[in-house]
Amino acid sequence: MSQPDELDWDALRDAAVEVSRRAYAPYSRFPVGAAGVADDGRLLVGCNVENAAYGVVLCAECGLVSSLHATGGGRLTRVVCVNGVGEVIMPCGRCRQLLWEHGGAELQLMTARGVRRMAEVLPDAFGPEDLEAVDGA
Ligand code: THU
Repeated sequence: MSQPDELDWDALRDAAVEVSRRAYAPYSRFPVGAAGVADDGRLLVGCNVENAAYGVVLCAECGLVSSLHATGGGRLTRVVCVNGVGEVIMPCGRCRQLLWEHGGAELQLMTARGVRRMAEVLPDAFGPEDLEAVDGA
């Protein structure tokens, strides 16, 4: 496993490509790999896992976030997602929300147009503070 200081964007993308090969995507035939770094430097990965009941699909980012918590928790600081030919793809809308929850506005996302903050790819996001704003009301 790579050490934190070795996890540059190229290494992260390589990890996403590698895990995309383990995707279970027999229905869409669209494998996805996601790789991220936690705030303590851990490398985390996830791949999409589909289901005969199509709507039950687990996106690669779901696996990534599950891995974050299963291996000790913390916050995501950087994420990249790739398709089956290794191209960087954008997380779907639901997964942007998922990444927001576990990385927040400052999480860095690699996109086809370069690195973007989550606040740029999910502007005016709904988040935990919106719940806290009415806590006890
Ligand atoms: N998919 C992901 O894994 N992440 C995304 O952000 C976009 C879509 C998966 C879900 C499904 O298995 C396949 O890609 C086609 O939509």
